[in-house]
Amino acid sequence: MKRILSGIKPSGEITLGNYLGAMKRWVELQQQEEAEFFYFVPNLHALTVRQDAKTLAINTLSDAAWLLAMGVDWRRSTLYVQSQVPAHSELTWILNNYVTMGELRRMTQFKDKSAKQGPEGQLAGLFGYPVLMAADILLYDADEVPVGEDQVQHVELARDIAKRFNELHGPVFKLPRATVQDSGARIMNLQDPAQKMSKSDQDQGGVVMLTDSLRVIEAKFKRAVTDSGDQIKASPSKPALSNLLTIFSLLSDEPVAKLERRYEGKGYGEFKADLAAAAVNAIHPLQERLYDLMSDRDRLISILQQGRDKAAAIAEAKLSEVKAKLGLL
Ligand code: AQP
Repeated sequence: MKRILSGIKPSGEITLGNYLGAMKRWVELQQQEEAEFFYFVPNLHALTVRQDAKTLAINTLSDAAWLLAMGVDWRRSTLYVQSQVPAHSELTWILNNYVTMGELRRMTQFKDKSAKQGPEGQLAGLFGYPVLMAADILLYDADEVPVGEDQVQHVELARDIAKRFNELHGPVFKLPRATVQDSGARIMNLQDPAQKMSKSDQDQGGVVMLTDSLRVIEAKFKRAVTDSGDQIKASPSKPALSNLLTIFSLLSDEPVAKLERRYEGKGYGEFKADLAAAAVNAIHPLQERLYDLMSDRDRLISILQQGRDKAAAIAEAKLSEVKAKLGLL
């Protein structure tokens, strides 16, 4: 049966970019009958920037709770926390020997993040991040990894690592494939449409957090930058409006062309006010469900425990197969 796997790093609060670019689709994918789903919280990945321990623990639980609030069905999908399955770390060490420094140096995310974080932030963990991600994927024989555009290069590297390992030792790993949705694969910052909306951005004026109060969400949309001119149209020369139209379309399930027609001859003010209202309408029920789920911590932990048990059994079997190939006793 086809396996679909993806994760959301607990490096801060979840953004509208994470939701529209990836998580919303993970929920929709569950409708496929002939597939198994693995959704996890890659908390080890969050260590590539300094984290406060309490905050990391809370963000880990709340990432899981957000997935449930959005509609991940824990009976249908295996929901777990990465650090609770030690095979991820063990396979990472092994796979480190099947990837070159040159390949890792080419990863755009490493280049971007290491430039942002300065010399002291250029940790070996940040450099090796894609290898841990390869282990996350290959341990479960994932066929498809639904991600936003920024993660495609990492999934392709996982595929190259798997191919290389298989060529040397025989067929051990499935070759995974990144799947990206047609629209919304890269939601941009509302204040700077040249930048991806990211949860760890220092200035959050252009980043909509799903935990923002409804008033703040509204204000962020009303203050969103627009392009010159007065037409509400998506086009490469209108990056800000293209981004806003994409967000509106995903929130309201209406095609961009239909929205363009609706706002023909209308002003930016009216358009942004309606978009703000659509965002509030979509996010408010998610927030209500999240607060409910977070108020029953024991239940959440028990769901993650069941997920861990299922995930660990699969991951440990794959790790044993790898170790046998390598003569690791
Ligand atoms: N702006 C975005 N548009 C579309 N998709 C996005 N994703 C992230 N930002 C956008 C997708 O969300 C999933 C989970 O991402 P992640 O949190 O595990 O890592 P990330 O890609 O590094 O996300 P952030 O928000 O930018 O986190 P920080 O700031 O900590 O690095 C992935 O599928 C991702 O593609």
